[in-house]
Amino acid sequence: MTDVLLPGDTAPADADASPSIATATQATPYLDFDVPHAVATYRRLSAALPETALHYAVKANPEPRLLEALARAGCRFDVASPAEITAALLAGAAPGDLVYSNPVKRRDDVRFAARLGVDLFAVDSPAEVAKVAEAAPGSRVLARLVTSGDGSDWPLSRKFGCSTGEVVDLLRQAAARGLHADGVSFHVGSQQRDPESWRAPIEAAASIFKTLRADGLDPWLLDLGGGFPARLDEGCPAPEAYGAAIERHLSAAFGDQRPTTIAEPGRGIAADAGVLVATVVGVVHRAGIRWVFLDAGVFTGLVETLDEAIRYPLGTDRTGPTGPCVLAGPTCDSTDVLYEDVPVELPLALIEGDRVRFHGAGAYTATYSTIGFNGFAPLATVVR
Ligand SMILES: Cc1ncc(COP(=O)(O)O)c(C=O)c1O
Repeated sequence: MTDVLLPGDTAPADADASPSIATATQATPYLDFDVPHAVATYRRLSAALPETALHYAVKANPEPRLLEALARAGCRFDVASPAEITAALLAGAAPGDLVYSNPVKRRDDVRFAARLGVDLFAVDSPAEVAKVAEAAPGSRVLARLVTSGDGSDWPLSRKFGCSTGEVVDLLRQAAARGLHADGVSFHVGSQQRDPESWRAPIEAAASIFKTLRADGLDPWLLDLGGGFPARLDEGCPAPEAYGAAIERHLSAAFGDQRPTTIAEPGRGIAADAGVLVATVVGVVHRAGIRWVFLDAGVFTGLVETLDEAIRYPLGTDRTGPTGPCVLAGPTCDSTDVLYEDVPVELPLALIEGDRVRFHGAGAYTATYSTIGFNGFAPLATVVR
């Protein structure tokens, strides 16, 4: 197998340990997903953050066998909808192991969660505080702090989160409405390459806790969010570097009043366990540029190539000299182009029928996929 890397990328340290491909006869495109690999990654991240309970973000990959294996390993879950709550409970989690982290929820969904015993909800607006107080009375809330998202390949800024002052107000409102103002959550942006990115929100959380304690409230829980990266290339530090940086910033900001911490990793657990396998459907030369069309694209699991944000290391079985090409998906939609601004290097001998592998694709692919656009089926998953 030849791993052909994107310009500027270097081989992932564990490229040779990447999951092998289940079968050469499986129709493409499909995601080859290695559950034990994901569980081993969970254990490593857990060891890197020994004081922090991990809640796997189900949205990253809700594959039931993954959820079951993680639950057996002691992992808790971060959920964003009733379907994810159901999936986590069916996998063996207890309702108290869940954090409902979507800050803007349907009222009926909050009721559904509360009926099943889920009691921890994220909020980031007064309307949501009122909604949770009405639909899940007496439950616990985390107010979500906005972050810059700097340093991440897939920022989550703007849509969710509010300022330090607003978080203080929300937690006061929550307490006044009979909710437990447990603390603060944030997300530093997905595929976060800089462990120092946790510093500013941890410092902000410490000042929020101080203000609330002066009010007589008792915040105690800090949700460190997701953002832990797939090691798509050697540009990402190891999990241990994240754990050390976070612990250092917690200690500097909170001193001997360290809060209880949880985190919501998705990509950092699932991504490296998956390889998306596609087939070349055509090679076209246009104005001196080689275009390689695949049977997987933006609508078939590779949404995160939008704006070329997530750059997957690629592999093929072809050897020989490589050259640049534009990589495109199979639909007639002009947005279905994976990499064009920064072309990829693939073997010049690549032809129709050859397979192309996207490494580090176990997160945000399997369900981030069309249900039939242009007649193409959703991405299949082969689980090992
Ligand atoms: C609230 C929340 N928590 C956790 C995650 C998981 O993030 P990541 O996959 O970067 O670990 C996300 C991702 O969108 C999220 O929105």
